[in-house]
Amino acid sequence: MKKALPNLVNRPAWWLLAEWIIDPLNLLQKWAKKYPDLFTISLAGIGDEVIISNPEIIEEIFNKDAKQFHIGRGNQIIAPLVGQNSLLLMDGERHKRERKLLMPSFHGERLQTYAQQICEITEAVASQWQEGKGFIARTAMQKITLEVITQIVFGLREGERYQKIKPLLAAMLNLTDSPLRSSLFFIPFLQKDLGYWSPGGILKRYQLEIRELLQAEIEEKRHQKGEIGKDILSLMIAARDEQGEPMSNLELKDELLTLLFVGHETTATLLAWAFYQIHRLPQVRQKILQELDSLGENPNPMQITQLPYLTAVCQETLRMYPVIPIVFSRITKTAMDIGNYHFEPQTILTPSIYLVHYREDLYPQPQEFKPERFLERQYSPSEYFPFGGGSRRCLGYALALLEMKLVIAKILSGYELALVDNKPVKITRRGLTLAPSGGIPLLLKSKRHPQASSPEKTVTLVP
Ligand code: HEM
Repeated sequence: MKKALPNLVNRPAWWLLAEWIIDPLNLLQKWAKKYPDLFTISLAGIGDEVIISNPEIIEEIFNKDAKQFHIGRGNQIIAPLVGQNSLLLMDGERHKRERKLLMPSFHGERLQTYAQQICEITEAVASQWQEGKGFIARTAMQKITLEVITQIVFGLREGERYQKIKPLLAAMLNLTDSPLRSSLFFIPFLQKDLGYWSPGGILKRYQLEIRELLQAEIEEKRHQKGEIGKDILSLMIAARDEQGEPMSNLELKDELLTLLFVGHETTATLLAWAFYQIHRLPQVRQKILQELDSLGENPNPMQITQLPYLTAVCQETLRMYPVIPIVFSRITKTAMDIGNYHFEPQTILTPSIYLVHYREDLYPQPQEFKPERFLERQYSPSEYFPFGGGSRRCLGYALALLEMKLVIAKILSGYELALVDNKPVKITRRGLTLAPSGGIPLLLKSKRHPQASSPEKTVTLVP
């Protein structure tokens, strides 16, 4: 017998919203135990969401034509951060056009040109660490990933604009760095500009300042003569759609903020978790170092990215730590049957990365960090999807993986680190993402190679 809203969780919508903001993983786990395939939660102000953890149902959703769903509409909560012309909020032909314009900058040979820069940025950040002193892994990783976005995506490496924009970007993102402050996303009232000190007011001020700086940078790049710059913004400015039309300044600004917003916190958090596991389990660190040693002195960065065990460590980190526990919701346009279920039009279908990645039948002992599972078996796109799937699959997944591998390799080969304590680390909400509580304190025991402290090329960093 088919039902309209299957396995409806019988709790008040305001209660479920509070749980969703404060402890989403506990909420997901609790109900998935009772309903292993899918269940429906009513979230106050958001609606009834069908949370799905059955890979076969998810496969059907990912394989369906994107035209059958509204997807951008479900992302409206982040419009105040990224603007209305963001890829995240688009659907249909417009989404297709925008992805085509953006895609080439993130794939193929383009990526290789970013590898050396990532290594230099990592070295510049790590060389500031002092022997015998501690630092917070997540903060350090965010320094690296923010620098990557500013240099590789925005094309800003030096000058007044560069000095101004980075602290502003960091401050804007820090507006939602705790479960309480994350309510800004979920309670639209808080996004309103209610005066100078209101969260909405502060957000608006940062936005205006950042947008002004981006506008100036776009103008300058548009009028630059000669060869097109290698950064992603220059490529976006040069890109043309099928009608030969370029992206407007407004589109460019919204897309830049989108890339900043989705591209740097996620990668920083994953890196912090990777360092946690690598230093919690000495054999993992040892195996990575052995693999790196096998490449000899000064390996080419692209050789590093091919290493199987290092790749498996990144895959396992992405499995275990869902920075985003769900993919974008797919909202049905018409009634549809998927698996044994019938869904009415306007049903919000939300595959859960977290629940699938912790299924015992796919990942025995899911709470254990075991990179070997990725060397022993292949997972299908609906059994393992840290970057989502179908037409909305993460645009920056190749850049994120490149960054993860190179940062880990560069730091492990140059620096001997240790966890400050061995206590288990909890997962806490940070805006729309989930991050390690306390950020994972690390200690620099020693620099492994003397040259680790003197990068060949100096990258200037804004404190
Ligand atoms: C480890 C880091 C990252 C993770 C775990 C991650 C994960 C995701 C996920 C789960 C989605 C939603 C996909 C879906 O609904 O099917 C997504 C979308 C997206 N991601 Fe990432 N991401 C990461 C890094 C990045 C980076 C570095 C960039 C670019 C600089 C980026 C750009 C995007 C964009 C533009 C979208 C929207 C795609 C669309 O709507 O068509 N992400 N990401």
